[in-house]
Amino acid sequence: MKYKAYLIEENDGKFSGSIKELDIPSLDDGRVLIKVKYSSLNYKDALAASGAKGVVRSYPFVPGVDVAGEIIESSSENFSAGDNVIATGYKMGMAEFGGFGEIVHLPEEWIVKSPKNFSSFEAMCYGTAGITAAECVKKITDKNVSNSLPVLVSGSTGGVGSVAVGLLSKLGYEVHAITGKPNESDLLKEIGATEIISRHEYMSEPTKPLDKGIYASGVDTVGGDILAKMISMTSNQGVVSCCGNVGGASFTTSVFPFILRGVQLSGIDSAESPIEIKKELWNLLSNSWALDLSKQTKTVGIADIGSEIDKILQGGQIGRVVIKHGD
Ligand SMILES: NC(=O)c1ccc[n+]([C@@H]2O[C@H](COP(=O)([O-])OP(=O)(O)OC[C@H]3O[C@@H](n4cnc5c(N)ncnc54)[C@H](OP(=O)(O)O)[C@@H]3O)[C@@H](O)[C@H]2O)c1
Repeated sequence: MKYKAYLIEENDGKFSGSIKELDIPSLDDGRVLIKVKYSSLNYKDALAASGAKGVVRSYPFVPGVDVAGEIIESSSENFSAGDNVIATGYKMGMAEFGGFGEIVHLPEEWIVKSPKNFSSFEAMCYGTAGITAAECVKKITDKNVSNSLPVLVSGSTGGVGSVAVGLLSKLGYEVHAITGKPNESDLLKEIGATEIISRHEYMSEPTKPLDKGIYASGVDTVGGDILAKMISMTSNQGVVSCCGNVGGASFTTSVFPFILRGVQLSGIDSAESPIEIKKELWNLLSNSWALDLSKQTKTVGIADIGSEIDKILQGGQIGRVVIKHGD
């Protein structure tokens, strides 16, 4: 039996993707076979598809860190054929073939049952970007950060950033959004931002060791100098959640935000978060934290994955890209 997948192959150091028919693997102990209804595109998938170092162990490879679909075969006591499930992260899409294929063969420990009344499509509108945004926001709500000052979000038109804007706004925070695409201001306002800050203008003044603390907290999805500035502008007892590096991996800060304001820098690694945390986040996203993501989501087939990867690598993607399998 065969299934279709968007397979990345390496030839003479060049990486390219195409649709191929692959053999369905036989079921190993403690694993399940999932018929993937929807997957989604994340920055890490674009790195995996372009051969970036340190993401995928070996090629040919099927990327895709997100899947939602139905179990068709199970050797687990906890899951049965017919269960609707979601899986994100761990080694899927890095060492195990992922959601760019119609079938995945995953360890039961990586899977959660879909919350009731939550479709595979809805789950993948969030995907890894969505649960990462939720984890970033939860670091802020868990510390009961006051909503008397705005919260700053960077990379705000991106997958993680746009969901973070929506969640913070829904939870009663005023949201200021940093973006490299000020022409997307209308969309950012529609999804919950009240002030749009051009990335270029935000970074035009040098970062001070301790700037005016005008933000209650921050969600940084880009890293580098933007993260350093966000930390210096965070007010007393604020939290800065840090999850990404599209803008740079290193930054220079001072100790003052930490020792004079008690600012907390909170690292997020949603791929490896314990499965119980993922369950809790999916329950929030399907219930009290549920967002209407229709304005910031587009749906494509696997034939369109290549062009969507190019956009995400150029920093030009807006919102979320859901991948639909089947006709
Ligand atoms: N730690 C984790 O658990 C985790 C999980 C998921 C993702 N991530 C990371 O989070 C980051 C965002 O992921 P994503 O899926 O949201 O990607 P994405 O959809 O491509 O969004 C990234 C956004 O960052 C902004 N940006 C692009 N290039 C930039 C640059 N050179 N400098 C500053 N900003 C830039 C752009 O937004 P604007 O034009 O609006 O500024 C872009 O849309 C990536 O680094 C990804 O690897 C981490």
